[in-house]
Order: sequence, then C-alpha cells, then structure tokens
Amino acid sequence: MFSVRNGWLFVEDVSVKELVESYGTPLYVTSRAALESNIEAYKEAFKDFPGKVRLLYAVKANNNLSILRIISSNGFGADVFSGGELYLALLGGFPREYILFNGNSKSDDEIRMGVRSAVPFSVDSIDELYTLSETAILEDSEVRIAFRVNPEIDAKTHPKIATALRTSKFGIPWEHIVDVYRTAYELPGVEPRGIHCHIGSQITDISPFVEALQKVFQIARQIEEIGVELEFIDIGGGLGIDYEGKGAESTPTPAQLAEKLLPVFEDGVSSLKSDPELWLEPGRSIVGNTTILLTKVNAVKKSYRNFVAVDAGFNLLLRPAMYSAYHRIVVANKMDREAEEVYTIAGPICESGDILGEDRKLPKVEKRDVIAIFDAGAYGFVMSSQYNGRTRCAEVLVEGSHHYLIREAESYGDLIAKQKIPEHLL
Ligand code: LLP
Repeated sequence: MFSVRNGWLFVEDVSVKELVESYGTPLYVTSRAALESNIEAYKEAFKDFPGKVRLLYAVKANNNLSILRIISSNGFGADVFSGGELYLALLGGFPREYILFNGNSKSDDEIRMGVRSAVPFSVDSIDELYTLSETAILEDSEVRIAFRVNPEIDAKTHPKIATALRTSKFGIPWEHIVDVYRTAYELPGVEPRGIHCHIGSQITDISPFVEALQKVFQIARQIEEIGVELEFIDIGGGLGIDYEGKGAESTPTPAQLAEKLLPVFEDGVSSLKSDPELWLEPGRSIVGNTTILLTKVNAVKKSYRNFVAVDAGFNLLLRPAMYSAYHRIVVANKMDREAEEVYTIAGPICESGDILGEDRKLPKVEKRDVIAIFDAGAYGFVMSSQYNGRTRCAEVLVEGSHHYLIREAESYGDLIAKQKIPEHLL
C-alpha cells in the first residue's frame, strides 16, 4: 500500500512524485488496497457479518462519496450523526435499514428527514423521544429506535474523545435508562428495538468494550421485562490505530476485538428472550491508515527551533492541534536518506498552535521537498476549514497504478460562494 522505490514514497504503484506533479499540494491521497484490507480484517474477524453481526461504518470519520461507496459495496451499514451525514450515507449507497441516525442534538428538520428516510434512530434524550414520536405520527410511520446509554466507562483515551464518562454530554444516564424505555414502549410512532452505546475513540485496550457490553446486557434483561423485543445491540466504534508506527502488537486488531466481544455477546444473548444482532460502528480503524496528506515545504527556518514551514496546517489536519495527536511524518522524496536533523513541522496558519509535528528527526529538509503525513484518513479532511482564507485541497484515490481525483480542490471563489453583500455595501 505504501512503499519506497528509488527514494520516493509510493502509494500502491503510484509515486508521490507523479501525484504531486498531477494534482499539486496539499493533497489527500487514499490507497484503495489499504481500505479493502481494513474492511477485510473486520469481515474476517466477524465472520457472521452480515448476519448476526452488522458493521455500521461511522461516516463522520471520512465522508468522501467514493470512499463511502467502496465501504457500502462491502455490505456495511452506516452510523450518521447529522442530516448531512444521512444525506451522504444515502448517496453513498448504504441500505437505509442499517443507517443508524445518531446524535445528541438533532433539529426538528433532521428528525423529520430521518423519519422520511425510514432509518432507525439512536435517541439521546427524552425531548428527542417526544419530538420523534410526534413526527412519526404526523408522517404516518413507525420508527425503530435504540437509546444511547451512557454506561459510565473510562475508555482510557484522550479526554476530548472519551464519550462515556459520567460527565459526558452523550447518552441517557445509566440510572434513567429503564424508565426511558418504559416511556418509549408506551408511546405511539416509536418502537424500541435496540440499545446503543459508544464509549470513545482511539481506544487501544479492549477491556472497556467488554465491560460496556456486559453493562448493556444488564439493561437488555431489564427492558425485556417491560416487553421490549431487541433486534440489535450496538456497541459503537472506537478501536484505535497504530499512529506511532510501533508495530502489530501495539494496537488491538478487529480479530482481537471479536475474540473478546463475541463470547460475551453470545453469553449475554443466551440470557435474553429475544435474539438481537450485534452492531459495531468502526470509523477510524476502517479509514485512518488508508490515507496520507502530502504537503510541500515553503521554507526551512532556523529559529530557536528548526522549523519546516509547509503548505498544510490545522486547516486541513486538525488532530495535532486539537488533541496533541501524533502523526508519523516523512520526507516523501528523500525516503532513502538518513535522518540527521530535528525539525518542527509548522503549517501556514496564523496561530502558534499550528504545528503538525514537533521535534521530528528527518533527512535534511529543503525548500520544495514533499512531506507526507501518515494516518490522515480518519478525522482529517472532514474536520478541515477555510480559516485564514485557505481553500480546501483535493483528494485522490489510488488503485494499483491508477489514480483518480475524488474531490477537486477549492478555488478562491469557494471562499465567497455563499456570501451575500447587502446592496448598501456594494
Ligand atoms: N459511533 C459513534 C456514536 C461515534 O460518536 C463515533 C466517533 C464512532 C462511532 C466512530 O468511532 P471510531 O471508530 O472512529 O473511533 N475527531 C476525533 C474523533 C472523534 C470521534 C467521534 N465519534 C479524532 O480525530 O480523534
């Protein structure tokens, strides 16, 4: 998927040289082979898929339509978190019965859109439940729902991406959950059919998943007493990836996740009257390592530190600035040179925090070298912005020796595309 030939980084059989000459920089480049390999790892790990196990790709991680279509064509459903993601998932070819409409703050319009699209909902509050019920009645439909429960588990990840701490904004508190199912069971327009939780992201220890699943089964047994027939138990996403390039042992694989989760699931189901499916919502572990961000060096500057100033910053890859996330960085045109100097890679944004990598030992860097930032496929482009009047860059898909533009770069016109000037300011 990514290799070195004649000193250049290659994406499958295409050199970064060719990519940069064809499309310029900055540039997001995705390897289809890497994507297929991650998909295969999940399918292989959860052999019952599709069947007793359903994989719902978390569209928030990367919503490029070409990427969505590759994933949906492998039988995946989708986790969506907004009307916009629902729109993208439908266009991306996901089957609506397996598009779960998540979200802690859905607007009335989004709820109506979800009802009209006939997708199941993960409901995050009592207010949402009532709106959903009213909307379903008006639309003359019946909506399958789960509640998102907060299982109060520390996923041992960065605090900004831990989602099941007691103080989290997500989910129904543990102590209210059974009452909420009871309310829903009595309401017209909604059919409680599932339980949903998601404990966090970039999780590298499987035990919190197991603990969450066990806790969810405690709820399952209690709500069956009310009369709820469960069709699915959704344990969310969150499996971490090896950002630091530490090797196979450092991060659990889908196979290891399945090995630990499936027995707990089977055991749990045997204690129920109903026979629910297990749903999972992987995002990062499907797309994270499939994509690099290519960025050109505009200047090398010796200051109190050795700065490499590149043409991509947190406008295109927010993770380092937002979570102090580590992404591997290489000089794509000097892959055969020895690392000899320590550099800090700085983006072009007018903020001191616009640093992509600190104190990285690299071969001697010069103006116009091409830097590649790895593992940028998840929460990369989707979190980009036009801050500082910077246009978003293009995205390319590589398949063997072919490459395809899957998103055009924006132009300056896109900076003003939706702006209006009142007449008196013209
Ligand atoms: N399901 C739900 C309900 C979620 O909220 C998320 C992620 C996922 C599934 C997928 O999780 P994954 O398998 O990708 O870990 N921007 C942050 C990550 C935010 C994750 C938000 N929720 C980052 O760049 O690390």
